[in-house]
Amino acid sequence: MGKILDYAQPSLQGTLRIPGDKSVSHRSIMFGAIGEGTTTVEGFLQSDDCLATIDCFSKLGVEISVDGESVQIKSDGIGAWQEPREILYTGNSGTTTRLMLGILAGSNVSSVLIGDESIQKRPMKRVTAPLKQMGAHFIGREDAQFTPIAVEGTKLNAIHYQMPVASAQVKSAILLAALHAEGETVVEEMETSRDHTEKMLQHFGAEISVDNKTIRLKGGQKLHGTHVVVPGDISSAAFFLVAGAIVPNSKLTLTNVGLNKTRTGIIDVLQAMGAKMSINDSDNNSHEEMGTIGIESSSLKGTEIGGDLIPRLIDEIPVIALLATQAEGKTIIKNAEELKVKETNRIDAVVNELKKLGANITATDDGMIIEGPTPLHGGDLTSYGDHRIGMMAAIASLITSSPVTLDDTACIAVSYPTFFEQLDSVRNS
Ligand code: S3P
Repeated sequence: MGKILDYAQPSLQGTLRIPGDKSVSHRSIMFGAIGEGTTTVEGFLQSDDCLATIDCFSKLGVEISVDGESVQIKSDGIGAWQEPREILYTGNSGTTTRLMLGILAGSNVSSVLIGDESIQKRPMKRVTAPLKQMGAHFIGREDAQFTPIAVEGTKLNAIHYQMPVASAQVKSAILLAALHAEGETVVEEMETSRDHTEKMLQHFGAEISVDNKTIRLKGGQKLHGTHVVVPGDISSAAFFLVAGAIVPNSKLTLTNVGLNKTRTGIIDVLQAMGAKMSINDSDNNSHEEMGTIGIESSSLKGTEIGGDLIPRLIDEIPVIALLATQAEGKTIIKNAEELKVKETNRIDAVVNELKKLGANITATDDGMIIEGPTPLHGGDLTSYGDHRIGMMAAIASLITSSPVTLDDTACIAVSYPTFFEQLDSVRNS
């Protein structure tokens, strides 16, 4: 039997310090391992995905020590890595798998990468194809579309690449390979995706030029170990932003939230829906923007979400769909076909699970349409082993008239191991 989420319609009150950003935590380890010298990380997210990244680099001989949210990485640079005796296991993490493919392609080691059942079905050609154009050597199922993939590190050449998808993982894999390639690489984005790699390259001392959607990076640059402050993950904060907005009589304050402009689409959507919120992006000591968000429950109205907003909130769409079930009128989510290749097909998963609770929601080819407001009732839900579907179900259960049973909550540790602990700390039933 799964976990019974019987929250009897509480109101949510209090303050939560949002744990570290998953994307920035992964990159802090990767950049620390590529760079020469010591890197210290503060606010690291100790989640399953980020620990998979640490495990991969430990197998490459990089010295990494973890003490809660603090991590120290000592490296003599990419040239000093050892050939791993074991297969590099990337778990459930698309970011680990795709960025590692880019990094390993230009290294001087041979290695094999494999992920869990979900990763083994997720498309890798979006990175292996451009990396092969740079000269990378991969062997894997269906022409290196799926893991396991063997990588023979080799000398790479720069590329001029027009991205066919809006994906920060693809962009980052190419940029990380470009760092060790001969010549200047140019990446042209379709839509601007999260820019943590560009920001962190600069933070580690590389020169990179970003002009609108065109990024240029010269090969042969060395990274130098430094101190990284990881902001809280706005994708994790999103669950409590939605909870605060839809659970009657709630008032939440979320501190330490990353406010990088390429990630704040959820704030734009809440504002467009009429949510009561405040944002304070006070000074901070991170190379990324961060601040505090206050949210209160209020009446909401439907909105349209598409175009260049999609990459700025791609991971928040499951919980935005839940939010839309409580908004007056129609919410249309379009241009979001990328949802089909996430940890699970998130269009099908969101629509199936919210329908079980009585939502008026229809799947479309590139998103979904939700008509609200609809009172939700309980039901037996599945997370499909996808952390964000699991958390969406848990937040939904706060407003259902009867309990929700969720088959798997363990998957939530992929990005938010303290999710239930934090939820319990603001629940006032
Ligand atoms: C991520 C990029 C996004 C996002 C994922 C993390 C990253 O994936 O969904 O959770 O850290 O670069 P895509 O690049 O596939 O859009």
